[in-house]
Amino acid sequence: MKRRSEFAGRFHLDSERPPGFVFRERRKGILRGGADFVLHCDDVPLPKLVERYGTPLYVYSATAIRERLAGFVSAFQDIPHTICYSVKANSNVNILRLLARQECGFDVVSGGELERVLVADRRAAKRVVFSGVGKSRDEMVTALKAGILLFNVESESELWVLAECATRLRTVARVALRVNPDVAADTHSYISTGLRKHKFGVPISSARELYAKASGARHLRVAGVSVHIGSQITDVAPFGEAMVRVADLVRDLRHDGHKIDYVDTGGGLGIDYQEPGLEFADNVAKYARAVTDPLRGLNVHLLLEPGRSIVGPAGALVTSVIYRKEDDGKRFLVVDAAMNDLIRPTLYGAYHQIVPVIQSKSLVAKKEIVDVVGPVCESGDFFARDRELSQVEEGALLAILDAGAYGMALASNYNTRPRPAEILVSGKSLKVIRRREKVRELYSSEL
Ligand code: LLP
Repeated sequence: MKRRSEFAGRFHLDSERPPGFVFRERRKGILRGGADFVLHCDDVPLPKLVERYGTPLYVYSATAIRERLAGFVSAFQDIPHTICYSVKANSNVNILRLLARQECGFDVVSGGELERVLVADRRAAKRVVFSGVGKSRDEMVTALKAGILLFNVESESELWVLAECATRLRTVARVALRVNPDVAADTHSYISTGLRKHKFGVPISSARELYAKASGARHLRVAGVSVHIGSQITDVAPFGEAMVRVADLVRDLRHDGHKIDYVDTGGGLGIDYQEPGLEFADNVAKYARAVTDPLRGLNVHLLLEPGRSIVGPAGALVTSVIYRKEDDGKRFLVVDAAMNDLIRPTLYGAYHQIVPVIQSKSLVAKKEIVDVVGPVCESGDFFARDRELSQVEEGALLAILDAGAYGMALASNYNTRPRPAEILVSGKSLKVIRRREKVRELYSSEL
């Protein structure tokens, strides 16, 4: 079963049909050498999308996004909860609308993200939580006017600014304090947030004092406790540890006379970038147990802020090989996507699986070690280094997988490169959810 290994992880043959990215056999007729395997997003072959929309191209599976959201809902069915998808992971309005249609809520960290949610579905405002360490007055006012569910407040100064804004608008802001539980999580240092040394939240040890102050403000209503320990965390134990500390705090706060209705557990559940598989349901079930066990008997409404685990595996960045280059035995595939389109490999040393979109039977066995690099003028512009890949020719298509989260959301116009188009596929149908930028658009506001 040599060929099967080409499809390691997510790559299932037609009969299995998981949602998202799947290789399917394309018969070419006996004379032309049997069959190829072609990567599809849901039911749409990627080469067909590339023919119409070019590369680099972000492609997402609506089916996968819906299924992953449903996976969360079902794992947490035993506890009242609202999933507040973390908009920063992928903020395309069409993806937000797709989620809003499933009654999903949203975690926003800026006035801009809030506006996107409101454009996607005005009625979703009541399911919005506003996180972030540096909310401005304007952002608070917009959020208060929109009638969001909860402000996750991260400092005493912020608390008083929020109170002032709410007073001015003659309204009441529901608040949770984001507490820093001082729990270590095994992830990249840039995206670990739950230790005392990090800029986030208020130390859990001094939270009670601040809750007492907050409850004295007429235009604030203390409603919950929030926490977020970091992102891309695959061991669920730290989530449980943080929740044990939060549960103790909830008991203390209730003892002090506060009405605590909500616990916001943040986001952060990681995905398996190395060997993606079908184990999502198991992982999310383990995560649900870790988070909910400490909360038993507390009768709280749980808020969850997953981002990556909903959209990450549902997206791929498709790119063309422009040149093959070989210098002193070192092989490069120069592709037309670059670090400005997907910065995760160079910024976090992140691993993304890369596969040829068309796996020809005859090439399946031929492997080579390559660096997959973009056209940007930095050595940091790479997607993979010393990676074993099936040999491909110039003009071939590659898919960089698990790029649905923090891909397009972190894309830039560095080197005056227009950002890619984005396509949302649902079964057999597809929609351009962002057209490719034109170079002129990149400088027109400078003229
Ligand atoms: N809630 C809060 C307060 C957050 O700060 C974050 C992510 C989330 C929820 C969602 O976390 P998730 O479920 O997606 O792990 N650019 C980095 C990730 C940055 C995460 C920032 N905060 C990356 O590409 O890995």
